[in-house]
Order: sequence, then C-alpha cells, then structure tokens
Amino acid sequence: MSCASCGGTGWRPVELDGVRRVERCECWEGTRTSKLVADARVPPRYARCDLDNFILYQNERLLSAVNRAKKFADEFPAVSKGLCLIGPPGVGKTHIAVAVLRKVVVTQGARGLFYDVRDLLRIIRSTYNPVVRTAEMDILRPVMDADLLVLDDLGAEKPSEWVEETVNLIVNTRYNERRPTIFTTNYEDVPDDADLDALKVRVGFRLYSRLHEMCEFLEYDGGDYRMLPANGGADDLTTLWKKRGQRSLPARAYRSARAEIRDPAERREPRDLKWPGGKAGR
Ligand SMILES: Nc1ncnc2c1ncn2[C@@H]1O[C@H](COP(=O)(O)OP(=O)(O)OP(=O)(O)O)[C@@H](O)[C@H]1O
Ligand SMILES: [Mg+2]
Ligand SMILES: [Zn+2]
Repeated sequence: MSCASCGGTGWRPVELDGVRRVERCECWEGTRTSKLVADARVPPRYARCDLDNFILYQNERLLSAVNRAKKFADEFPAVSKGLCLIGPPGVGKTHIAVAVLRKVVVTQGARGLFYDVRDLLRIIRSTYNPVVRTAEMDILRPVMDADLLVLDDLGAEKPSEWVEETVNLIVNTRYNERRPTIFTTNYEDVPDDADLDALKVRVGFRLYSRLHEMCEFLEYDGGDYRMLPANGGADDLTTLWKKRGQRSLPARAYRSARAEIRDPAERREPRDLKWPGGKAGR
C-alpha cells in the first residue's frame, strides 16, 4: 500500500523557511528493513527464528553457543571472526544462524544473505555457461558482497573437486575482504583424518584450515527439537538429549559419505570458476 505522505517514494516534500525541499519519510526505514529482510532469503520455515524464542536448558555447550551467537549479533559489524555451528540434526544450528542474521539486518541495516550450500551450488551449476560468465556472477556477487552470509549445511553436498573449488572461492573471497560468514554443519571437528565424517575430510583440507582461521567453532549437542511433542519444553529437550546419549552422527550421513567418496563417476560439473579480478586468494 502506498504511503499517504510520500506516495511510496520514501521522500516527502517539506517547506523550510520558504524553501521547498524533500526529506526522508517515516515510512522509509520500515520499508527498507522489510526489503533487507526479504533480500536475505531466509526460508519461510525459519522466518520467526529469534534468539529470544530459542528454548534454553541445562546444556553447557548449547548455552555457551547461544551466548557467543548473541555476542556476535550485538557486536556486529565489529567482529573479527564468523561462527561455525557444529552439531547433530535438530539442535537448532540453523535457527541460531538465522536469528543472528535477522538481528543484524533489522538492527544494523546490514545486507544479510542465507543460502543452503546445496541450493547455492545447484543454482550456480544451473546458470553455468562456459562462454558467458555473467549469470553465475549474478548469483555469486551478492554472496561475496553480503555484509553477513549464512552458509547452511556445509558438507552435505556430495564432495567433488568442483564443489570444493567453488566453496573455497566464495569463502576465500569473503575472508580476504573481511566479511564474516556463519556456517552450520553436521560434520564434527574430529582429528581423525581417516574418519570420512570428519569435517576436515568432508570439506577438504584447504577449506577446513580457512574455517579455523575465519570462524569461532561452536560445537554442541542436545535434544532433537523435531522430536519434541507439541507443548514440549526445556525438560522434554533435556530428556531427548539424554536419550540421544553418546553424541553420534546419523548412520545415513556416514553411509552416504562413504558411498560418495568411493563413487568414481563424478557428475559433469563446470570447471575453472574464476572470480573476475582474481581477488580470491588460495
Ligand atoms: N532450542 C530450541 N528452541 C526453539 N526452537 C528450536 C530449538 N532447537 C531447534 N528449534 C526449532 O527446531 C527446528 C529444527 O531446528 P534447526 O533446523 O535449527 O536444527 P539444525 O541443528 O539446523 O538441524 P540440521 O542439522 O538437521 O540442519 C527449527 O524449526 C527450529 O526453529
Ligand atoms: Mg540446519
Ligand atoms: Zn512515506
């Protein structure tokens, strides 16, 4: 609906000492914020995720992760590192990442952007054209330039040379330009290089070492919120957490990682994705 004072232009006419000028209309901030929120591409499922509606329970590492996330949002843009949220399914990693993203967009007017890593790669692949690179750059430019980027579900993509190169390019460019990124992943930061479910193995050694340089690692486990009965609360989450017992990744992730790494038939993928100007470091 168009604003009565400015007709939707964001500028309204005023007269000061007989001089006619325009000034920002009150509606402008609100419109601008709504546009920034829409531009951030947060999936509707997570539209209401907030740090204030995140249920807390006696889980030291979860509490610490939430505190660190709050601190990051409060201090943004004066933050030196991004965040890497690591944990099993349903513990609220995406919720926390989105909550921080929304907060900096709404309170700081930051340009935020959310992408599930698989979706992003699928879009880049689909726009790939070996002759004209403009389409993929249309996708990549905002990803590189966003004040805060959330890359959700890192490592879920089938590993391949192209995937590694592409994610490295994005991450390196942002790192070089000191733009923070929040990652979420199911893959644990374990030291065992032979473990196919180790984050290091899953995302490749180069990206892994970059992640450590550019992010604070927040690793936690907890109850799977998706298993929570309706009207369930903190106590039920604690029970679910205890039932989950020893932290472990789902067998599904483990099996698929093995199958994928052994699969020699790599899908056809674009090669040599380059960022114009060669800004991306290695
Ligand atoms: N502690 C919590 N309080 C309130 N809502 C929660 C909490 N934890 C998770 N949720 C909600 O549960 C759903 C699943 O959480 P989310 O998607 O963030 O989990 P995740 O850790 O990212 O899981 P996955 O590894 O499968 O991606 C979301 O709708 C989220 O808002
Ligand atoms: Mg998630
Ligand atoms: Zn107006």
